[in-house]
Amino acid sequence: MTNGAAAPQQIHPLKAGLEDVIVSTSEICFIDGHKGRLLYRGYDVDDLVEHSTFEEVVYLLWHGRLPSRKELDVHVKALASTANRRLPSKVLSMLKLFPKKTTPMEILRTGVSALSAFDPDSNDNSREATLRKALRLTAQMPTLVAAWERIRKGKAPVSPNPRLNLAGNFLYMLTGKKPTPLAAKTFDVALILHADHEFNASTFAARVTAGTLSDLHSAIVSGIGTLKGPLHGGANEQVMLMVEKIKDPAKAEAWIRKLLAERGRVMGFGHRVYRVADPRAKHLRRLASELGEQVGNTSYVKILDTIASVMSSEKHMFANVDLYSGAAYAAMGISTDQFTPIFALSRVTGWAAHVLEQHGNNRLIRPRSEYTGPTDAKYVPLSER
Ligand SMILES: CC(C)(COP(=O)(O)OP(=O)(O)OC[C@H]1O[C@@H](n2cnc3c(N)ncnc32)[C@H](O)[C@@H]1OP(=O)(O)O)[C@@H](O)C(=O)NCCC(=O)NCCS
Repeated sequence: MTNGAAAPQQIHPLKAGLEDVIVSTSEICFIDGHKGRLLYRGYDVDDLVEHSTFEEVVYLLWHGRLPSRKELDVHVKALASTANRRLPSKVLSMLKLFPKKTTPMEILRTGVSALSAFDPDSNDNSREATLRKALRLTAQMPTLVAAWERIRKGKAPVSPNPRLNLAGNFLYMLTGKKPTPLAAKTFDVALILHADHEFNASTFAARVTAGTLSDLHSAIVSGIGTLKGPLHGGANEQVMLMVEKIKDPAKAEAWIRKLLAERGRVMGFGHRVYRVADPRAKHLRRLASELGEQVGNTSYVKILDTIASVMSSEKHMFANVDLYSGAAYAAMGISTDQFTPIFALSRVTGWAAHVLEQHGNNRLIRPRSEYTGPTDAKYVPLSER
């Protein structure tokens, strides 16, 4: 510029919903949407499902590598300790004050915010403190979700059992009974599959919050609020509501064809990144099917399979992570409105990994909008309007 005027700012073209926009680099998670691959820190999620445990995956996400035996033992013990899993008694008392109709997702959002007030590291955003907070929250959130399930049903909360892993302990705290090995294994695999998924909406929200140098609990609350919507984590509940409406596998095909004819949105299908099947769905289908057979309810999976076949042939759209997960949880006797909180029990670990990464190399996330409103509005005094 020769006249000293500032160069016009280069504004990139608008991409609705930030589709395909790269907003950051990240070493945590990779999705190949064309090949249907999902990697955590370079490890294929299929391998992690086969060989790993949720606790080990959490270590991998937070520390960027698989742990040694000794490191894993310490980590597993810390996640299972009653000191880390227990809720402060005042948070438990607070839960008893809520109307019984309060949804588990509202309780989770409020409860995580309340837990911040009792966390000894709440004002410390160092990496070490954030890791300690992440560990406590990962250990506490199942207790919070299970306690609310008990309280809203008029039952006493069940204390955590430090001899059970996170999956088994959560199911134990819900019912007061040790889960079957298949239920505990299924739940553990579901936790592995939900732990992270690159820059999905809730992770992005958590990173935006962390990017202001806000703390872990605040970022997790942003994540929970974002996960709640039916286009994101809330879809798993919507799938089950649809299955309950269809009821009979023989009616599923006609039901779904009618919905498509009315241009309805079928929950549990479609994805912003995957152009082929979501690699998580096949594991959840298998587990839902095995569990369904064990408890004598095969109709949920039959209904979902019929819907999947119509969606594939009519819309070339495939099951995402939310299609079969609910059928597995329902076979364990879990209430439908607990499905999205369960998603959060796992995803909190991915959110925490992203908060650590964001804090480690931070720049405020502050995009622009393309202004389409008026520019010459003249103020009219109130008396003249
Ligand atoms: C995940 C999701 C929000 C991604 O949406 P997106 O990338 O913004 O795609 P759009 O909403 O712009 O949809 C693009 C087209 O596909 C259609 N479509 C997308 N998902 C659909 C679905 N689940 N059922 C029916 N049609 C769908 C839209 O109607 C639209 O069609 P049109 O161009 O004829 O209007 C979307 O697929 C969806 O709503 N799925 C159901 C909710 C769900 O399962 N969410 C969990 C995701 S893991």
